Amino acid sequence: MTKTIDKDTLIEGFQQVFNLFFPFLYRILIFMLEEIAQMADLVRSFDLKTPMDIEKFKREISGKNGQLNTLFEQFKGISGDQKKDVGKALNELKILVAQKFEEGVAFVETQNVKQDETDYSLPGRTLHFGKRHPLNLVNEEVIGIFERIGFQVKEGPEIEDDWHNFSALNFAENHPARDMQDTFFVNSEHKILLRTHTSSVQVRTMLKEKPPIRIISPGRVYRCDSDATHSPVFHQCEGLYIDKGVSFSDMKDVLFYFVKSFFGNDTKVRFRPSYFPFTEPSAEMDIGWIVNGKFKWMEILGCGMVDPNVLKNCGIDPDEYTGYAFGMGIERLTMLRYKISDIRLVYENDLRFISQF
Ligand code: PHE
Repeated sequence: MTKTIDKDTLIEGFQQVFNLFFPFLYRILIFMLEEIAQMADLVRSFDLKTPMDIEKFKREISGKNGQLNTLFEQFKGISGDQKKDVGKALNELKILVAQKFEEGVAFVETQNVKQDETDYSLPGRTLHFGKRHPLNLVNEEVIGIFERIGFQVKEGPEIEDDWHNFSALNFAENHPARDMQDTFFVNSEHKILLRTHTSSVQVRTMLKEKPPIRIISPGRVYRCDSDATHSPVFHQCEGLYIDKGVSFSDMKDVLFYFVKSFFGNDTKVRFRPSYFPFTEPSAEMDIGWIVNGKFKWMEILGCGMVDPNVLKNCGIDPDEYTGYAFGMGIERLTMLRYKISDIRLVYENDLRFISQF
C-alpha cells in the first residue's frame, strides 16, 4: 500500500528544506511578520482626535507613501510559499488600518459639529437694493422729454458772478432779487454768489454759441427761502430756443407737449401773464390739479420771449433772431407727481420715505 503524503505536510517539508538552504529569505519572512506586528501596535496606539492627526495618519500609515504600502511593496518580493503567512498578517493589518482611519474620521467629524455653533436655522440676511431718488427720477424724465424734441443739455457753475446771474439777464441795478435777503453771496464785495436760477447757463451758452440754440439747463440753484414748499437749495430745469422767426406760439406748442408727456394727455393747462426781467412778454403756466377732491390751478413754470436786451447783452442780434425761454422747479413737479405735501421730505434721506419710489 502506497503511503500518501497530504499537501500540507508537503508544504511544511518544503518550507523546512527552504529554510535550511535559504536562511536569508527565511529571515526576511520573520522580519516582515515582526514589522507587521510592530506596525499593528503603532496603528492601535495612534491618537486620532483632530484633522491634523488624520493627516499625519495618512502621511505615515495609510497614504500612498505610508508604511502600509511599503509593506505591500516588500510583500511582492516574497516567494510564493512564504506569501501565505505574511499575506494573512498584512491583510489583517490593512483591515486594522482602515478601521482605525474610519473611527478617527468619524470622531473628528462629531467634534467639528460640536465646535460649529452656527445656527443654520436663522433666517438669511436681507439684501437691500438701492432706489433712485424721486428728484432724480423726475429730473431725468424731464430731460428725456426735451431731448426727444432736439434740446441739448447744458450745465454751468453753481457759484456765479452777478453779471451772468443778473446783469446780463436785464435785472435792474436795484432789483430786489439782488438783495442779500434773496441771494446767498459768497463774496459780496466782488458780487460772487450762488446762482439763483440756471438762466446763467443760458447766458454762457449764448455768449459761446451761434443760433440756432436749443438747450435745457438742469441743475441746483440757491435762494434764501425756507418753508414747507420752499427750500434754500432746489433744482431747476430751464429751456432756451433761439433761431430766426421763433414765436410765442412755438413756445406754447413745446410746453403743451411737455405737460402732456409728463402729466398725461388730458391735463388742463392755462397761461397767465407775468413778469420776468429777461422775457417780454412773460407768462406763467398752470395745470389743472385735483386737491382733496377740488379742482385747483397749480403754477408749474415761468416762460416768455427772450427780451431783446438779453440777446444784445449776449452778442445776438435781436433784429435777426428771436427766442423763447422757460424755467421750472423739479421739486414742484416731484411734489405734484407723487403728491408730497412737504418739500423737506425729499432732502431728509429718511429711508421710509425714499424707498417708496
Ligand atoms: N429763471 C426763472 C426763475 O428762476 C424762470 C424762468 C426762466 C422764467 C425762463 C421765464 C423764462 O424763476
